[in-house]
Amino acid sequence: MPQDPTSRGQWKSRVGFILAASGSAIGLGNIVFFSANAYKFGGGAFYLPYLIGLFLIGIPVMALEFGLGAMTGGAFPEAMYRVAGKKGEWAGWWAILNAGLITMWYITLLGWVMGMLFGSFGALWEPSVALPAFGMAEGAMSNPHAFFFNMLSGWWPVLFVIIIWVLNVIITRKGAESIEQAARIFVPLMWIFMFVLIVRGLTLPNGFQGVMLLFSPDFSVMKDPEVWRGAFSQIFFTLSLGFGVMTTYASYLPKNSDHTQNAYITSLLNCGFEYMAGLAVFSLLFVFAVVPQASTLAMTFFILPQGIGQLPGGNATVMLFGALFFFLLLIAGLTSSISLVEALTSALRDKFGWTRMKCLAWAAGVGVIGSIVFALPMVVDPGLNNDGTMGLTFLDIFSHWNFDYGLLLVGLVECVLVGWVMGADKVRAVLNQNSKMHIGRWFDVLIKWVIPGVLLGLLLWGGIGEIRNGLYGSSFSENYTEGFSLMRFTPIITLLIWLVGSGAVAAFLVKKGSYRNDAS
Ligand code: PFF
Repeated sequence: MPQDPTSRGQWKSRVGFILAASGSAIGLGNIVFFSANAYKFGGGAFYLPYLIGLFLIGIPVMALEFGLGAMTGGAFPEAMYRVAGKKGEWAGWWAILNAGLITMWYITLLGWVMGMLFGSFGALWEPSVALPAFGMAEGAMSNPHAFFFNMLSGWWPVLFVIIIWVLNVIITRKGAESIEQAARIFVPLMWIFMFVLIVRGLTLPNGFQGVMLLFSPDFSVMKDPEVWRGAFSQIFFTLSLGFGVMTTYASYLPKNSDHTQNAYITSLLNCGFEYMAGLAVFSLLFVFAVVPQASTLAMTFFILPQGIGQLPGGNATVMLFGALFFFLLLIAGLTSSISLVEALTSALRDKFGWTRMKCLAWAAGVGVIGSIVFALPMVVDPGLNNDGTMGLTFLDIFSHWNFDYGLLLVGLVECVLVGWVMGADKVRAVLNQNSKMHIGRWFDVLIKWVIPGVLLGLLLWGGIGEIRNGLYGSSFSENYTEGFSLMRFTPIITLLIWLVGSGAVAAFLVKKGSYRNDAS
């Protein structure tokens, strides 16, 4: 039965909305992925592609996603349905499923963060332990590194993952109302904790030198399209674009809100936080001569903790800053994951008219299973040359498809459908109706030509690389050359699940149910 449209819920205030939207945007992406990517893609040179990505693509797509929510009053699949009919809706569901996969592994990461938080009160800082499951002797690696893999090769993370899902359900149980309450506590706390970390980082002897690393340009890397793909993927991920989240959040605002200004405020708050985090991370790493490795996971779970472990002031200081860091990650991650759980719940509710609790139960029930798969402790690579455990291996491969391709693909399809099928001027008119800032025709050109062109180019570039250099994850499957093992086909199976599996589920969802005011 179609639901009562007035029952979707509303933010209590504009501040509440900004806190919730910026809480969605600010997450693990800001605190660790950004620094790892900045380092990987040329350190100081990264800020140029990043800033170009922010102003050319990030803020316009944020305005577009807010505008779609305002215009249609629905979550992402419904919004896309209003834009381009059934094919739009299909793309909307595919986006939600891609984002759902991200939420699954993102929550697994949060489960590990929780384990590290417990560890930071003691075991994380003790002399390096042995890793029997990986055949490694005591002292073979730094302790956070050893602690992390020890934890992963056991079942504790499964429990942590379940706890994080329960927290997500509790926070989203009343939709906008309960999300706003949580955001009012967590988001200001995040800023305070980040400020403390920056002050600590910058006041270390030579702390400023690390910051120089973040800004000293090496323009030669900018010739590499890979750097641009990295910067633009980071922009999408960090701003929670291409997830369907921002459209859902904006649909809970009164129609006469200033969406354009909201888009600027949310994006700038997020990217300001991101650069502040970069200052903290780079100063800390530089002082202790710890190399921020290319992998975002290594950065989160052992490179940064290793730096924290060397802070002056004795055990108590190390514990304090370690706990502060992991608690910050946990709350920043939670305010992000709840936004996607809400986007999913809201999408189901719009389509099927079920009660909130039923939609939430479906989203969380399927989600928790996925997160547990990513936490599976079976050791598949004792040499740790690839990822170590089965869960981490899956996580690595899926996150590659979701992060490097999925979000950009959604951005591309979204812009093409709005720009070419509905007309970007329609969204612009809605945005301009109540905004103090007037958006000119340049917006239509961006949405219709520039953004799709750039995204298509980067996606094609990535795809060609994938064909030339072998599918992502092939080095992992090389471990399974003997006999017939399903694990050998992991790279192709994961690719098919992501691309074709999600497409089929999206098609199924399009066929079922109907939207209010529409007979199916
Ligand atoms: N914007 C988030 C971050 O930077 O960490 C990414 C995110 C992940 C958003 C998962 C939403 C989500 F459900």
